Amino acid sequence: MKIRIIVNGVERELEVEPNELLINVLREKLRLTGTKYGCGIGECGACTVHVNGEPVLSCLTLAVEVDGKEITTIEGLGKDGELDPIQEAFIEEGAVQCGYCTPGFIMTAKALLNEKINPTREEIIDYIKGNLCRCTGYVNIVKAIQKAAEKISQRKSK
Ligand code: FES
Ligand code: FES
Repeated sequence: MKIRIIVNGVERELEVEPNELLINVLREKLRLTGTKYGCGIGECGACTVHVNGEPVLSCLTLAVEVDGKEITTIEGLGKDGELDPIQEAFIEEGAVQCGYCTPGFIMTAKALLNEKINPTREEIIDYIKGNLCRCTGYVNIVKAIQKAAEKISQRKSK
């Protein structure tokens, strides 16, 4: 089947199988390997991408379902050679250890901060509950998202 999608701002026309998963199209056909394959059953959040601005688990999404839609992956967040403020904050707060969960957390955090510029700590914890990290203990991830929210607010007020 032929699908047409916009991935990180670039239009792509692809041949996919009816049962082909979005994560496999991204990683194997488009070589966008920042999106990680963790559990494959919707439990870890490592495969989170945005479809038309909403966070979606690409391991549970068929490629044909996203025909005509806009996909953003972790590779599409930085602009003009600059990291996204969430990426910066994850580095500054030491929220990355092995890094396997990190793209998924950042895409989830991006969706949260698009919805709400100043979430409370509790709102952050609630929003990221579908993302699992085996290394960090989550404390620095939550701090990083709080710091990213501050950075975004400061940049908007300039
Ligand atoms: S790989 Fe998709 S939720 Fe775990
Ligand atoms: S940093 Fe290793 S799983 Fe999260």
